[in-house]
Amino acid sequence: MERSSHPYMAWKICIANQKGGVGKTTSAVNLAASLAVLGRRCLLIDLDPQGNATSGLGLDKSTLRRSIYHVLVEDDPLGSVILPTAVPHLSLAPANIDLSGAELEMVPLENRERLLAQRLAATPAEYEFVLIDCPPSLGLLTVNALAAADSVLVPVQCEYYALEGLSQLLNTVTLVKRRLNPHLKIEGFLLTMFDIRNRICSQVADEVRGHFQERVFQTLVARNVRLSEAPSHGQPALLYDPASRGAQAYLEAARELLVRHAARAEDAAPERKVHAGNVHAGKVDEGRVKEGER
Ligand SMILES: Nc1ncnc2c1ncn2[C@@H]1O[C@H](COP(=O)(O)OP(=O)(O)OP(=O)(O)O)[C@@H](O)[C@H]1O
Ligand SMILES: [Mg+2]
Repeated sequence: MERSSHPYMAWKICIANQKGGVGKTTSAVNLAASLAVLGRRCLLIDLDPQGNATSGLGLDKSTLRRSIYHVLVEDDPLGSVILPTAVPHLSLAPANIDLSGAELEMVPLENRERLLAQRLAATPAEYEFVLIDCPPSLGLLTVNALAAADSVLVPVQCEYYALEGLSQLLNTVTLVKRRLNPHLKIEGFLLTMFDIRNRICSQVADEVRGHFQERVFQTLVARNVRLSEAPSHGQPALLYDPASRGAQAYLEAARELLVRHAARAEDAAPERKVHAGNVHAGKVDEGRVKEGER
């Protein structure tokens, strides 16, 4: 069955790049918040023992009693660890340092690469999108995320070595497709931390576009101090400073994601055109953003 064609199954996007600090968590938190503001019910799964998505959404990592660790390793129901956030329509399955043990503890388990996929089969039906924030490695946690996802979104930092490591990531994607998850798609490459004054940045952006063509999001996420400040306030940028360039860039990227998603759903099932055409519902919900601007 084509996963995207089922109206009651969440579309699961894994946000991965084994390189550290390229904007995975910033993209996961702010895209999830943007999709939620655009009226799409979203679940963000923090799959990184650093727990940055968890703290970035205002939750205290140290006092968490249950987390995604318990879902993965102890088979707790996913629904039992999901917490609401300050953003309407956005929930979080949190993580903390407990998860660092999971990779080892999962090794002897049967189906260790498919544990997350199995657990996500019981994703509460209310969610339309599930975003999974991966750690900076291609280890078992990231492989589980790739095996569980419908698509992978790759944040690419606009810097000199941006393309380095991407082929390794894409090889892993190919392997996962072959062995674990034949439906896995590339959601796209999202250029992050773009600095217009830096010539290298433009060159890198051109190079990435030349290489991956239309698979690169049109939206460029600029380097924006609000995006780096927001996590210390436990807020996505859309709450912290909705008018900021960073918040608006992720909102734009989320709109683009919805358009791509709708086009894919149409390709997969032309008869669902009406359902997929829903993308412009985002426009209706824009009032929320304005509301948030105060
Ligand atoms: N567009 C941006 N403008 C300014 N700062 C940014 C931007 N995107 C990310 N940052 C900052 O860069 C740092 C790394 O970003 P982030 O944590 O999202 O990367 P990551 O890929 O999740 O890192 P890790 O690999 O450690 O999980 C953070 O301090 C974040 O606030
Ligand atoms: Mg991160």
